[in-house]
Amino acid sequence: MPSRTIGIITSGGDAPGMNPCVRAVVRMAAQSGHETIGVLGGYDGLLDGGFRELRPRDVGGILHLGGTVLHTGRCSRLSADAGAPEAVAAARAAGLDALVVIGGDGSLRGANALAGQGMDVIGIPASIDNDIWGTNMSLGVDTALNTILESVDKLRDTASSHRRTFLVETMGRESGYLAIMAGVISGAEIVVVPETDITPAEVVAAVHSAREREKAYSLVIVAEGAALGVDVVAEHLAEAGERFESRITRLGHVQRGGSPSAFDRLLAARFGVAAIEAIDDGATNLMVGLDGRSISRVGLDEVVSHRRSANLDYLEMAQDLAR
Ligand code: F6P
Repeated sequence: MPSRTIGIITSGGDAPGMNPCVRAVVRMAAQSGHETIGVLGGYDGLLDGGFRELRPRDVGGILHLGGTVLHTGRCSRLSADAGAPEAVAAARAAGLDALVVIGGDGSLRGANALAGQGMDVIGIPASIDNDIWGTNMSLGVDTALNTILESVDKLRDTASSHRRTFLVETMGRESGYLAIMAGVISGAEIVVVPETDITPAEVVAAVHSAREREKAYSLVIVAEGAALGVDVVAEHLAEAGERFESRITRLGHVQRGGSPSAFDRLLAARFGVAAIEAIDDGATNLMVGLDGRSISRVGLDEVVSHRRSANLDYLEMAQDLAR
């Protein structure tokens, strides 16, 4: 494979693991004789000419950092009709002949649009929501779950001291993955997600049942995109009586930060290496993903026409294990 100039973009919501992934792409590309250019600020950087040459030593000291040193953004211009042709023209003008895009579903849709304009593109899934089709895990999910767990463990101390109910809101506008998994591993009485229609009465009944079983506290996890939000749940609990006094904690963007976990660093390394291997094989317009223990290649077309849904069986598991 002749030497190529590869642009690297981090796009959409940042996810812990983006930095070690950038490092892996740059260093593996150098091993294969390619040059790498960092595109600064997501697709906006591509359109506005934000480029920086990245050599292996330039990505030293970022392995353990959360966020992305390339910066990121949600670029609305790419969805306009002229967006993708303009972005590809800008990439070509900067001498790029392939792009590695590290990001979530919107970013991979952008990657697919660029591929449709003749650019060679490899996608790497990164989103704490774990809603990207074609991979069991996306970068950032494991770190975000560990962050949630650490916070909930702390809340449990005060919840049990005061014998209160805590309503914890996790991220996930359209996906309940984080809330569901956090529910199972932190002992929630009930988990409320965008994918289901849980009523206030069901939440009150779950908390009531915990009190009947003489639990000192109860924990309810609610994904931010659920139709039944934490405030409404709190109102219904208040109406149920003093024994149901509750407090709300919105974990918010803290879930997107922090040093990537061991799992995310390893996944970042494997995805980065696999992206360059794909380029070396002449394969393109695909996303690398985790399939069981192996790294797979899935067409970008397929990735963007599906959505990975959370396993709702775990909702019941959470409730069973909280008893
Ligand atoms: O896509 C990841 C995510 O963190 C979602 O869970 C959340 O709903 C959204 O991004 C928040 O986006 P922003 O940082 O743009 O407010």
